[in-house]
Amino acid sequence: MKQFKRIGVLTSGGDAPGMNAAIRAVTREALLRGVEVMGIYRGYSGLIDGDIKPFSVRDVSNIINHGGSMLYSDRCPEFKTEEGMQKAIATCRKFGIDGIVAIGGDGTFRGATDLTLRGVPCVGIPGMIDNDISSTDNTIGFDTAMNTVLEMVDRLRDTCESHSRCAVVEVMGRNAGDIALQTGITTGATAAIIQELPFDEGALIEKIKKSRELGKHNFIVLVSEGMGHDFGPALTERIEAATGVESRFARLAHVVRGGHPTQRDRLMASRMGKFAVEELFNGRSNIVICERDNRILSCDIGFALTLDRMYKGKLKDGDLDKYTATEIAEMTALVEKRKAALASLAEVAAALSL
Ligand code: ADP
Ligand code: F6P
Repeated sequence: MKQFKRIGVLTSGGDAPGMNAAIRAVTREALLRGVEVMGIYRGYSGLIDGDIKPFSVRDVSNIINHGGSMLYSDRCPEFKTEEGMQKAIATCRKFGIDGIVAIGGDGTFRGATDLTLRGVPCVGIPGMIDNDISSTDNTIGFDTAMNTVLEMVDRLRDTCESHSRCAVVEVMGRNAGDIALQTGITTGATAAIIQELPFDEGALIEKIKKSRELGKHNFIVLVSEGMGHDFGPALTERIEAATGVESRFARLAHVVRGGHPTQRDRLMASRMGKFAVEELFNGRSNIVICERDNRILSCDIGFALTLDRMYKGKLKDGDLDKYTATEIAEMTALVEKRKAALASLAEVAAALSL
């Protein structure tokens, strides 16, 4: 088993509330085990540039309650090139970094795989609001983002009620409709429109007309950004034209990526951060830490990314060739479980929305 002397921790891709709790957990667990920790700033850019600082226990105090990432985060196209990758490896040698915990999304995990293949073992932690990593039930930041949507939409509802309006609200999620669907239910929206599910615009228009006749004042329609940038504004105009209900469009955008992480995100980030270090020190790498049925476990990054493609129906030729029948069966079961969870939420949303 490899003995670690000094590991690095970084955050990459879109930031997410709870990343700080994960940074803290990684740092404290490693220090507790007598291994030094280097904070790598600005994601893979900091790894290329050597924007790195040793962390003590105190460096990560007073951060668990803050949103964003105290290590900063970014997207680094240079890291995808062999030249950039070699610079990153050289930085690891220079600073004596012999392992890395990378907190981010699937792009970040691809980078972690590339580093592992070149001799720097990496473990990934899923930190992004979208919840679009199929191997884990939840990503760090997802819960906080949804709670922020709740607060924002509750406010919109107040003013919609006073003015008898409809608010069409677009929320982030990239290609995943999880945020929109779940908050559609919990804000009591008339509809949650996401790219994973069919949308019947005529039925929505009829529902709004009928409810207005029955005296309903406010209408909330949640739209996931995966529907496309122009979808929400255009739908708003169509709703107003077809129903006569005055309508306004609101894009919550990055607002839901900030703010204090919820209890749930802090707890999961703490558990994942600690487990990431345990796994790394137990000689495991090229893995992503996951939460399934409230258990923290790990899964091979290649497996996780293939699983994502299977879930999205984007498997490429040969994708499954290197997996055993048992592994493919496991992937298929996870895809089915996730699809069933989505279908069940869609059923609740459809039944309760008026
Ligand atoms: P996320 O990690 O949230 O999915 P990105 O897709 O922007 O966010 O990826 C974050 C960073 O990870 C990128 O800016 C890049 O530095 C690195 N990365 C993304 N894709 C790859 C890849 N295929 N190979 C190596 N590094 C990658
Ligand atoms: O992946 C997180 C996310 O916030 C997505 O929901 C969104 O599509 C994207 O990042 C926005 O990226 P940027 O911060 O570069 O505008």
